[in-house]
Amino acid sequence: MTTSTTTINVGIVGAGNIARGRHLPCFKKHPNVRLVAISDVVADLAASAAQEYEIPGIYTDYRDMFEKEHLDAAIICTPNKFHAPASIAALEAGLHVLCEKPMALDPAEGRAMLDAANKAGKILSIAFHYRHMANVRAARRIVDSGELGDIYMVRVHALRRRGVPSWGTFVQKHIQGGGAMIDFGVHLLDTALWLMGNPQPVEVCASISQRLGKAPNVNPWGQWNYQEFTVEDQAAAFVRFANGASMLLECSWALNIPESYENISLSGTDAGMEVFPLKVNKAHLDMLTSWKPDWMPGERDNPGDVQAADFVSAILEGRQPVSQAHQALQTTEIVDAIYRSAEAGAAIRLG
Ligand SMILES: NC(=O)c1ccc[n+]([C@@H]2O[C@H](COP(=O)([O-])OP(=O)(O)OC[C@H]3O[C@@H](n4cnc5c(N)ncnc54)[C@H](O)[C@@H]3O)[C@@H](O)[C@H]2O)c1
Repeated sequence: MTTSTTTINVGIVGAGNIARGRHLPCFKKHPNVRLVAISDVVADLAASAAQEYEIPGIYTDYRDMFEKEHLDAAIICTPNKFHAPASIAALEAGLHVLCEKPMALDPAEGRAMLDAANKAGKILSIAFHYRHMANVRAARRIVDSGELGDIYMVRVHALRRRGVPSWGTFVQKHIQGGGAMIDFGVHLLDTALWLMGNPQPVEVCASISQRLGKAPNVNPWGQWNYQEFTVEDQAAAFVRFANGASMLLECSWALNIPESYENISLSGTDAGMEVFPLKVNKAHLDMLTSWKPDWMPGERDNPGDVQAADFVSAILEGRQPVSQAHQALQTTEIVDAIYRSAEAGAAIRLG
């Protein structure tokens, strides 16, 4: 272990799209990180990423990597089904973990991950990088300042007109746990819950559909594997919270709407706020007004860099990261309740 120094040794599990597109470049340039090993069940993928990022250790089994390398932290970048087993193995090997979203396939897996982190006394963070966007960080500061008053109504939109992942295993339910909701909607849901201060959800009523995914269709990301499409392409939900707040959520990978649209809209007793882009609206001096920032701290930052920096400094400073596992577990519980409610055709009670 090297956490007593200022350099941490990092191992990567999964050398696919998100590892190459975000974690490898972001961690490679961090001054306190040494990328020492990478594993992928496809040996060539691990080897080519290792060559590109000058990583000495190459493995096809992450357990071997955890055993043989002197790692401080692991970054889990596998399909969703392997998030829990790989994270738990890393935590049991005494490593801090940054695991890709969603946390897990279901709450039971998520709770096992959280238990493993608590038992090991290690950090478990989930890579909800939306929390590290400049507008979201600014939105959180506005909420914390009390400007909105009591937040009681929240609308969440994660709508793609067409944006079905055409690579990997994203359309297979037994590997990913679901489609548009667990993959894309989960980002905006997690961010909204964090901005609300993670109130306890008590009831979820939802519907999902699979109307466009099972046949060929137009998709700027290329034709997805419609023959293996076993997930939802659209979801809608109503969530009620113990503090009296409500949330309306809509998400899609493919839906016949005029354009793709992402936003979180929070309505409070003193003001309301749109997050994408950031705008605050309120009644003031007998007028209905709105303001938006002309500049925000960190607006040129790459959220992946901010996420990596937060994870590394949390380890070095012995503090919790911005995205904490118990919050991700709550997000997982709501996603799971959305699927259960849709299947049952009835509301699901939580808590
Ligand atoms: N935060 C984001 O915005 C974002 C974006 C894309 C993907 N993701 C998440 O990242 C994860 C991976 O997505 P991706 O797009 O990189 O998929 P991908 O299919 O491109 O890559 C996954 C890699 O994991 C490897 N793998 C599978 N099982 C493994 C195992 N047991 N051990 C080691 N390697 C294993 C595969 O061979 C593949 O190379 C998913 O959970 C996804 O939800 C997050």
